[in-house]
Amino acid sequence: MADIKLLASLPKAELHLHIEGTLEPTLMWALAKKHGITLPYNSVDDIAKAYQFDDLQSFLDLYYQGANVLRDEDDFFQLMWAYLLRCKEDNVVHTEMMIDPQTHTSRGIGFDVFMTGFTRAIEKAKNELGISCYLILSFLRHLSEEDAIETLAQANDYYEDFIAVGLDSSELGNPPEKFVNVFEQARALGFKCVAHAGEEGPPEYVWQALELLKVDRIDHGVRSAEDPKLMTHLAAQKIPLTVCPQSNLKLRVVNDMAEHNILKLLDEGLLVTVNSDDPSYFGGYMNDNFVALNDALSMSDAQMIKLAKHSFDGSFLPETIKQQWL
Ligand code: HPA
Ligand code: ZN
Repeated sequence: MADIKLLASLPKAELHLHIEGTLEPTLMWALAKKHGITLPYNSVDDIAKAYQFDDLQSFLDLYYQGANVLRDEDDFFQLMWAYLLRCKEDNVVHTEMMIDPQTHTSRGIGFDVFMTGFTRAIEKAKNELGISCYLILSFLRHLSEEDAIETLAQANDYYEDFIAVGLDSSELGNPPEKFVNVFEQARALGFKCVAHAGEEGPPEYVWQALELLKVDRIDHGVRSAEDPKLMTHLAAQKIPLTVCPQSNLKLRVVNDMAEHNILKLLDEGLLVTVNSDDPSYFGGYMNDNFVALNDALSMSDAQMIKLAKHSFDGSFLPETIKQQWL
């Protein structure tokens, strides 16, 4: 069993995080009060108690509802700053996080509002905490490809602030092939590409993300284990999988943490990493995810060190900076 003191000492990068999924019940409550919004809860405790999910969709319903309290520039600043402070506690020195613009633009809140708040917090974290941060513009796959194309166009003034585009939300029934054109446009603009695939969806969706969207890494991807050919391909091509153990447990992708396949994937040579996904909703940040895995699967020190190193290896950091952490 790995030593928890080792975990604290290891610098880590977080590669799979939705900033809207870091909205803690206390901040949700405070922002609802600030904006005169009535929540379907009677207290902060009530919010936390509602976080019981059957599957991805039952989570997404609460996640989009929660984001409704984010209204002005300072709300987005507070959200980002709180997460980056939490990174400091866990020795997360670099993060590549997803923003869901459509969750905000569909409510009349523009890029000028959320990007100003987010970048103000990111700049402060760079200066005061020594944490670096890349942003990923993530398209909601339950919406149309036209909507995604329009969102990419709306982001025009902020392209400099994004490293990549991504694909999230309801996976089943919304395969990667639905977004071929928008990913092609994004690649032509110079963005890296990532996509959620193989969380609830079959290995076929992982193949599509790789072959049709030409993604640089896969978010989740745990169902890849069902396809031996895919496993060989992922290992040979060193495609990073950004795995989120507590998310998988909460959304019933696995029934028990002891059944999680991350260490099997690691031992088979895949570039797997540990991430928190939506920590406020799933009960833990980066180190909590490591602890949950260690408790259930009793990882070795060597496995823990390898997972932490993979987080830099799988990142979009320039090679020279990556090497400093490897
Ligand atoms: N899967 C898909 N969409 C999401 C997730 C996730 O885990 N978290 C936030 N949006
Ligand atoms: Zn996710």
